[in-house]
Amino acid sequence: MQSPRSTSLSGRHVLVTGANGGLGEQFVAQGLERGAAKVYAAARSTRSWDDPRVVALDLDLTDPEAPARAVAAAPDVDVLINNAAIAPSDDTITGPEEELRRIFETNFFGTLRLSNAFAPVLGANGGGTLLNILSAAAWISMPTGYAASKAAMWSATNALRLQLEGQGTQVVGLLVGMIDTPMTAGWDVPKVTAASVVAQAYDAVGDGTLEVLADGTTRDLKTRLSTPAEELYPWVHEQIAGLAATR
Ligand SMILES: NC(=O)c1ccc[n+]([C@@H]2O[C@H](COP(=O)([O-])OP(=O)(O)OC[C@H]3O[C@@H](n4cnc5c(N)ncnc54)[C@H](OP(=O)(O)O)[C@@H]3O)[C@@H](O)[C@H]2O)c1
Repeated sequence: MQSPRSTSLSGRHVLVTGANGGLGEQFVAQGLERGAAKVYAAARSTRSWDDPRVVALDLDLTDPEAPARAVAAAPDVDVLINNAAIAPSDDTITGPEEELRRIFETNFFGTLRLSNAFAPVLGANGGGTLLNILSAAAWISMPTGYAASKAAMWSATNALRLQLEGQGTQVVGLLVGMIDTPMTAGWDVPKVTAASVVAQAYDAVGDGTLEVLADGTTRDLKTRLSTPAEELYPWVHEQIAGLAATR
């Protein structure tokens, strides 16, 4: 792991999933700005990049063979950023099981499979960092399969921290509300910038933080989690109704 409190990625080899747009593109750009030696930009359809330190990598999270291929192509990775996910617009927890499984296959199983495949790589490269992009929806129970998949991945992130402690891997979970990316194009609500979220994520990689709460909404939400369910959920439902009204 890096020395404490450094915000530099100097000499590090970063792999970002879902790298082509939104938060992923920011992870690539700011990784380069912070001095990464190499950034693997993983995506379902690779694109060209204008910095020789960027290596485009084909990676579809729903392909069970993809993690082994990625490990073979990127054996020097010491920062894995699980950023890719889907959030279908018609998603509801009472919806068709096939659709819920599709969401879980990407956001949970695909992400976990890649984490497990790269865990030995991170170990071999000095411990490294595993950064999972989660969501405030892990805690606010939006009535969607997406929220359930992020809650499951939050739990898995915390479990991986324990499992990988012995090899010195820093496992970071990032939770955040609305970010201004293509994923939230249909929501007319206040949003934070992708740049601000990524800056906080990379600061955490450098300073040993384990959980990043990347906006005010998520920080406020965390303080409410200890209140009794009879108080918490009426408030949660009010927030969700307010959000739904903006679509
Ligand atoms: N935007 C928000 O408000 C918000 C809030 C909280 C958390 N997040 C999280 O932030 C992360 C980034 O999302 P974003 O806002 O940047 O959304 P986005 O622009 O929709 O980006 C999602 C990325 O995931 C990729 N992806 C989807 N399915 C994939 C698969 N099967 N294999 C590989 N890549 C796949 C997409 O690739 P294609 O280009 O091929 O579709 C896309 O690049 C996600 O984990 C999301 O859940 C977002």
